[in-house]
Amino acid sequence: MTILSANNLVKIYGSKKGIQYKAIDHFSLNIEQGEFVGIMGPSGSGKTTLLHLLSTIDKPSSGHISINGQDVTSLKKHKLAMFRRKEMGFVFQDFNLLDSLTIGENIMLPLTLNGVSVREMENRLVQVVKQLNIDTLIQKRVYEVSGGQLQRAAIARAIIHEPSIIFADEPTGNLDSKASLQVMDAFHRLHQEQKTTTLMVTHDPFAASFCQRVVFIKDGKLYNEMYRGDNRQSFFQDILNVQSLLGGDQHDFSSIRF
Ligand SMILES: Nc1ncnc2c1ncn2[C@@H]1O[C@H](COP(=O)(O)OP(=O)(O)OP(=O)(O)O)[C@@H](O)[C@H]1O
Ligand SMILES: [Mg+2]
Repeated sequence: MTILSANNLVKIYGSKKGIQYKAIDHFSLNIEQGEFVGIMGPSGSGKTTLLHLLSTIDKPSSGHISINGQDVTSLKKHKLAMFRRKEMGFVFQDFNLLDSLTIGENIMLPLTLNGVSVREMENRLVQVVKQLNIDTLIQKRVYEVSGGQLQRAAIARAIIHEPSIIFADEPTGNLDSKASLQVMDAFHRLHQEQKTTTLMVTHDPFAASFCQRVVFIKDGKLYNEMYRGDNRQSFFQDILNVQSLLGGDQHDFSSIRF
């Protein structure tokens, strides 16, 4: 079953009269139920723009996106907000957890917003914290736990309402290598065991090597895509090879336009 289908997306920034820039250029992508897909590409290639379009945070200039059979490009603001709350989970680079709440309260937030009963919330909480190996942290405050733990709490929050798809934006961007491993291992296990559907944007070839498929974009267009076999190490090497072909260091300044 196809969870996400994007057809011929174009995103043009800029006003009609002023300078225009085509950040996404006739891009199409299908994601099947249970897939774990990474998006990579040089700085300025359109990764963030694409993620914003696919996750309905921004609208394409043309083209269509459907998620779980619903054409999201035609939904009005209120309906879209409801749809997003029910069908999507989000994981961000800077965790986005609320300091005033405990880890457990943070994780339950999507259920609170969706009006689920307290008992059901607690059942689900117990389940997801076990899956992410953070069951001892429920009562802790955000400032009392490590970055890797915070990001796993953010993943727990992203999955607790059982959305059809999780969007992750550079989830290892603020983590050291040990915490990155914990977080990617968590994503990988969710994919293997729960058949969670995940789309992750990343600069990090190590993080990308945990995906089942990596899609490379360049100048807003599809450049290449690769499937991982059984061996993560060799997939990691393959990703590095495509990156060097793609050119442009991941953090260079060539894409800065004045
Ligand atoms: N709001 C905007 N207005 C005008 N141009 C924009 C806007 N946002 C992004 N762009 C341009 O669109 C292109 C793609 O940007 P985007 O942020 O999607 O790239 P990216 O792949 O996420 O880069 P990075 O790896 O540096 O995060 C860039 O050339 C950028 O300058
Ligand atoms: Mg970006």
